[in-house]
Amino acid sequence: MQTSNPRPKIVVTRDIGPATMPLLFEKQSSYEIVLWPEDRPCGREWLLENAKGAAALIILVTDKIDAKLLDIAGPQLVVVSTVSVGYEHVDVKELAKRNIKLGYTPDVLTDAVADVSIMLALMAGRLAREAMAVVNEGRWPNFNWAPFLFCGPQLSATKSSPKRTAGFIGFGRIAHATLARLIPFGFTHCVYASSPSSKPTPERDDILAKDLRLQSIQRVDLDTVASESDVVFVLTPGGAQTKDLINETFLRKMKKTSVLVNAGRGPVVDSDALAKALKEGWIWGAGLDVVAGEPKIYADHPLVKEPRCVILPHIGSATLETRVDMANLGVNNALAALAGTEMPAERRM
Ligand code: DGY
Repeated sequence: MQTSNPRPKIVVTRDIGPATMPLLFEKQSSYEIVLWPEDRPCGREWLLENAKGAAALIILVTDKIDAKLLDIAGPQLVVVSTVSVGYEHVDVKELAKRNIKLGYTPDVLTDAVADVSIMLALMAGRLAREAMAVVNEGRWPNFNWAPFLFCGPQLSATKSSPKRTAGFIGFGRIAHATLARLIPFGFTHCVYASSPSSKPTPERDDILAKDLRLQSIQRVDLDTVASESDVVFVLTPGGAQTKDLINETFLRKMKKTSVLVNAGRGPVVDSDALAKALKEGWIWGAGLDVVAGEPKIYADHPLVKEPRCVILPHIGSATLETRVDMANLGVNNALAALAGTEMPAERRM
């Protein structure tokens, strides 16, 4: 005989911290909480097994949600809540088909990722990797101060070179926050390319330019972003539409003194093309928080071997404050959907 579980099941694929887990555990009289107990991704088998009969899945970017998993989960599944702003690990069409809600965590990580974007622009431009290696490897004594030792292009405008153009691939919240951070550096212009399906917004761009005291913000084609920008920030979602958008053609059009920053999704940048661009000096440097194929990026990866490539292991949102906010939002999204109330951040499809 089948026994029905009176408490809807919430599956959580990772412990999301001491500030947040109590929000779930205090609901144990209403919900059954099933938590992957280890400090590593839960793995497909565990998720397939435990999703069965779940009403909510609280997941991370490391968990893939596809048709097979949703079929196994069953028709009682109300919500998938990802503790991330990106959701390419979730098959949104399959969710929509089944009327399952998707929660995500926009806004709360905007500032943290914008901060890292600026950090990467500075580090890549100012040759931080090569310069730090000299110290860390005990080679500083071989490098007396010299007029042009470890010189790179200056991010901030100077009297002799007063024009600075920021380029963006994707012009959403994080791009806006990154642009705002560039104002004190004396940036004067902004160009951006965004998805062909998004409507042009010239009035909004003019208002933003005025607010930021920029001479102009213009939506342009990819070639123009490449050729005009002193720094190109890749801050667009991943997925089939943006795969390898930054390729050899784009990189060849960039200025030799310009820097490429990717704090969006790894696959947007063709790694081999970027390695070639760095090796052959088509661009000055690159700062990456994400790389196609991550986390399987070993020391022999072509980009890791490039001294002008600063790479971080996808830590854009990794501040103590932001990760707590993301986790709380992920839980509150799930609980709201289960209660049938408005989710604080629902991604509608
Ligand atoms: C996201 O939220 O999508 C980030 O990439 C992980 O913080």
